[in-house]
Amino acid sequence: MKFLVLNGPNINMLGIREPDIYGREDYSSLCESIKSHAEKAGVEVEIYQSNHEGDLVDKIQQAIDKFEGIIINPAAYTHTSVALLDAVKAVCVPTVEVHISDVSKREDFRQISYIRAACVKTISGHGIKGYTEAMDFLINYCGDSK
Ligand code: DQA
Repeated sequence: MKFLVLNGPNINMLGIREPDIYGREDYSSLCESIKSHAEKAGVEVEIYQSNHEGDLVDKIQQAIDKFEGIIINPAAYTHTSVALLDAVKAVCVPTVEVHISDVSKREDFRQISYIRAACVKTISGHGIKGYTEAMDFLINYCGDSK
Protein backbone atom coordinates (compact mmCIF):
# COMPACT_ATOMS: atom_id res chain seq x y z
CA MET A 1 0.00 0.00 0.00
CA LYS A 2 1.23 3.46 -0.86
CA PHE A 3 -0.04 6.73 0.59
CA LEU A 4 0.53 10.35 -0.41
CA VAL A 5 0.83 12.84 2.44
CA LEU A 6 0.19 16.43 1.35
CA ASN A 7 0.71 19.58 3.39
CA GLY A 8 -0.39 23.05 2.40
CA PRO A 9 0.94 26.53 3.07
CA ASN A 10 3.00 27.31 6.18
CA ILE A 11 3.09 23.71 7.41
CA ASN A 12 6.83 23.89 6.64
CA MET A 13 6.96 26.56 9.39
CA LEU A 14 5.98 24.11 12.15
CA GLY A 15 7.97 24.64 15.33
CA ILE A 16 8.45 28.35 14.52
CA ARG A 17 4.86 29.15 13.67
CA GLU A 18 2.45 29.88 16.57
CA PRO A 19 3.81 27.09 18.79
CA ASP A 20 0.94 27.47 21.27
CA ILE A 21 -1.43 26.37 18.52
CA TYR A 22 0.70 24.04 16.37
CA GLY A 23 3.23 22.73 18.88
CA ARG A 24 7.02 22.87 19.08
CA GLU A 25 7.90 20.00 16.75
CA ASP A 26 9.25 21.16 13.41
CA TYR A 27 8.33 20.02 9.91
CA SER A 28 11.22 17.56 9.67
CA SER A 29 10.10 15.83 12.92
CA LEU A 30 6.61 15.57 11.44
CA CYS A 31 8.07 13.91 8.32
CA GLU A 32 10.21 11.57 10.45
CA SER A 33 7.24 10.49 12.55
CA ILE A 34 5.16 9.81 9.42
CA LYS A 35 8.00 7.81 7.81
CA SER A 36 8.73 5.76 10.92
CA HIS A 37 5.04 4.96 11.43
CA ALA A 38 4.75 3.90 7.78
CA GLU A 39 7.78 1.65 8.07
CA LYS A 40 6.36 -0.06 11.19
CA ALA A 41 3.00 -0.49 9.47
CA GLY A 42 4.66 -1.88 6.32
CA VAL A 43 3.31 0.78 3.95
CA GLU A 44 5.05 3.26 1.66
CA VAL A 45 4.63 7.02 1.91
CA GLU A 46 5.51 10.02 -0.19
CA ILE A 47 5.41 13.34 1.64
CA TYR A 48 5.02 16.67 -0.16
CA GLN A 49 4.53 20.23 1.06
CA SER A 50 3.74 23.32 -0.99
CA ASN A 51 2.73 26.89 -0.35
CA HIS A 52 1.01 26.97 -3.77
CA GLU A 53 -2.52 25.77 -4.44
CA GLY A 54 -1.87 24.62 -8.03
CA ASP A 55 1.08 22.45 -6.95
CA LEU A 56 -1.23 20.64 -4.52
CA VAL A 57 -3.86 20.21 -7.27
CA ASP A 58 -1.15 18.74 -9.57
CA LYS A 59 -0.05 16.28 -6.87
CA ILE A 60 -3.62 15.14 -6.22
CA GLN A 61 -4.20 14.59 -9.96
CA GLN A 62 -1.01 12.55 -10.22
CA ALA A 63 -2.19 10.25 -7.40
CA ILE A 64 -4.43 8.25 -9.75
CA ASP A 65 -3.19 4.64 -10.06
CA LYS A 66 -0.17 5.53 -7.92
CA PHE A 67 -1.51 5.78 -4.36
CA GLU A 68 -4.17 3.85 -2.45
CA GLY A 69 -4.91 6.85 -0.23
CA ILE A 70 -4.18 10.52 0.40
CA ILE A 71 -3.65 12.23 3.74
CA ILE A 72 -3.97 15.99 3.34
CA ASN A 73 -3.62 18.98 5.59
CA PRO A 74 -4.65 21.72 3.16
CA ALA A 75 -3.90 24.34 5.86
CA ALA A 76 -5.40 27.74 4.91
CA TYR A 77 -6.63 26.31 1.57
CA THR A 78 -9.07 24.21 3.60
CA HIS A 79 -11.18 27.30 4.03
CA THR A 80 -10.89 28.73 0.51
CA SER A 81 -10.16 26.10 -2.12
CA VAL A 82 -12.83 24.64 -4.37
CA ALA A 83 -9.94 23.58 -6.65
CA LEU A 84 -8.62 21.13 -4.03
CA LEU A 85 -12.15 19.80 -3.41
CA ASP A 86 -12.65 19.23 -7.15
CA ALA A 87 -9.24 17.54 -7.50
CA VAL A 88 -10.01 15.03 -4.72
CA LYS A 89 -13.44 14.38 -6.25
CA ALA A 90 -11.85 13.87 -9.66
CA VAL A 91 -9.32 11.23 -8.63
CA CYS A 92 -11.57 9.08 -6.41
CA VAL A 93 -8.61 8.17 -4.17
CA PRO A 94 -9.77 7.80 -0.52
CA THR A 95 -8.63 10.96 1.24
CA VAL A 96 -8.37 11.89 4.92
CA GLU A 97 -8.36 15.55 5.96
CA VAL A 98 -6.02 16.33 8.88
CA HIS A 99 -5.64 19.46 10.99
CA ILE A 100 -3.08 19.79 13.75
CA SER A 101 -5.21 22.27 15.69
CA ASP A 102 -8.87 21.85 16.59
CA VAL A 103 -10.34 24.08 13.89
CA SER A 104 -13.84 23.68 15.33
CA LYS A 105 -12.76 25.76 18.35
CA ARG A 106 -11.12 28.55 16.32
CA GLU A 107 -12.22 31.60 14.28
CA ASP A 108 -15.46 31.61 12.27
CA PHE A 109 -13.56 31.69 8.96
CA ARG A 110 -11.99 28.33 9.86
CA GLN A 111 -15.39 26.65 10.27
CA ILE A 112 -15.73 26.09 6.52
CA SER A 113 -13.87 23.21 4.94
CA TYR A 114 -14.44 22.83 1.22
CA ILE A 115 -12.41 19.66 0.91
CA ARG A 116 -14.29 17.86 3.71
CA ALA A 117 -17.16 16.94 1.38
CA ALA A 118 -14.79 14.74 -0.65
CA CYS A 119 -12.97 13.14 2.30
CA VAL A 120 -13.69 9.79 3.94
CA LYS A 121 -12.64 11.16 7.35
CA THR A 122 -11.48 14.31 9.14
CA ILE A 123 -9.04 14.30 12.06
CA SER A 124 -8.68 17.65 13.80
CA GLY A 125 -6.99 18.76 16.99
CA HIS A 126 -4.85 15.68 17.64
CA GLY A 127 -1.56 17.49 16.96
CA ILE A 128 0.92 15.81 14.64
CA LYS A 129 -0.39 12.40 15.84
CA GLY A 130 -3.35 13.12 13.57
CA TYR A 131 -1.27 12.14 10.54
CA THR A 132 -0.39 8.69 11.88
CA GLU A 133 -4.01 8.18 12.97
CA ALA A 134 -5.04 9.04 9.42
CA MET A 135 -2.58 6.46 8.10
CA ASP A 136 -3.98 3.74 10.40
CA PHE A 137 -7.49 4.68 9.32
CA LEU A 138 -6.57 4.40 5.62
CA ILE A 139 -4.79 1.06 6.12
CA ASN A 140 -8.06 -0.38 7.53
CA TYR A 141 -10.26 1.47 5.06
CA CYS A 142 -8.28 0.33 2.01
CA GLY A 143 -7.89 -3.20 3.42
CA ASP A 144 -11.67 -3.50 3.89
CA SER A 145 -12.44 -2.28 0.38
CA LYS A 146 -10.35 -5.03 -1.27
C1 DQA B 1 -4.45 23.95 10.01
C2 DQA B 1 -5.64 24.84 10.41
C3 DQA B 1 -5.88 25.90 9.36
O1 DQA B 1 -6.97 26.73 9.74
C4 DQA B 1 -4.65 26.80 9.22
O2 DQA B 1 -4.84 27.75 8.20
C5 DQA B 1 -3.40 26.02 9.03
C6 DQA B 1 -3.21 24.76 9.73
C7 DQA B 1 -4.10 22.93 11.10
O3 DQA B 1 -3.33 22.01 10.82
O4 DQA B 1 -4.54 23.06 12.26
O5 DQA B 1 -2.47 26.49 8.36
O6 DQA B 1 -4.81 23.21 8.86
